[in-house]
Amino acid sequence: MFENIIFETDGPIARLTFNRPDKMNAVNNATVDELDQALEMVEKNQELRVLIITGAGKAFVAGADIGELDKRDTVQGRLDTKRRQAVYTRIEQLEIPSIAAINGFALGTGLEIALACTFRIASAKAKVGQPEVKLGIIPGAGGTQRLPRVVGMSRAMEMILTGDIFKADQALAMGLVIRVAEPDDLMQEVEKLAKTIILRPKLAIQYAKEAILKFSEGSLEDGLSRESYLHALSCGTEDKKEGVKSFLEKRDPVFKGR
Ligand code: COA
Repeated sequence: MFENIIFETDGPIARLTFNRPDKMNAVNNATVDELDQALEMVEKNQELRVLIITGAGKAFVAGADIGELDKRDTVQGRLDTKRRQAVYTRIEQLEIPSIAAINGFALGTGLEIALACTFRIASAKAKVGQPEVKLGIIPGAGGTQRLPRVVGMSRAMEMILTGDIFKADQALAMGLVIRVAEPDDLMQEVEKLAKTIILRPKLAIQYAKEAILKFSEGSLEDGLSRESYLHALSCGTEDKKEGVKSFLEKRDPVFKGR
């Protein structure tokens, strides 16, 4: 049903693969539309617990499609960036966590997609960067906003103002990715994290993600207040009763997602 991505589900895991390998999975506007449709399917499927995003071939995503960029004027620039920002924010705000499996180049909008994911795990062969300034533009789909939140102002300035490409170990050192795996082990490493999340109670994961994502950047007072309400909500779940009971009974919990 899609031309530029592959979307499949396997029980609680959804996998989305950017699939224009001959163009290094460069994201054109049609890809953004398909990504949006796939995210709607993720939102509607209550069985899903984790979304994994990766790329086919040598790249995760090597940026926006430069052929389309060539035709982008001021009006189109505003339209394209607003649309991409909205769709990538949809990834970020999914109730379930997402993992970017960075198998190769994650450049420009590719890194912006990875930054919208909850976690990033890289292959040792991966290369990341925000090379937009080399084309005379600046990032427009979250790079100037999410990158400093993830790696800090100083590293974000370095990446965006130089446009340089960074290796996986450098991405790890700056906290941009949480792990680096040998290329052949990347998906295994990503699935290991996915399986850990799936073992945990669904609502606790959802509330914790929301507390961190939405309320850890504002005032501490507001954040603590929101945390308290979300904690209280988690106290009302069946899985909280089961989690505490199973601990006291020295057995593994059986969570139901309620
Ligand atoms: N948009 C459109 N096409 C792209 C692309 C992009 N962002 N990135 C790569 N491609 C295409 C190339 O044009 C080439 O197509 P062709 O075979 O029809 O000529 C094909 O993908 C393979 O890329 P190539 O450059 O030959 O591979 P490489 O291994 O030598 O280099 C990169 C890989 C990623 C370093 C290089 O392609 C690159 O710098 N891409 C652009 C990165 C960029 O500036 N992204 C930000 C855009 S805002």
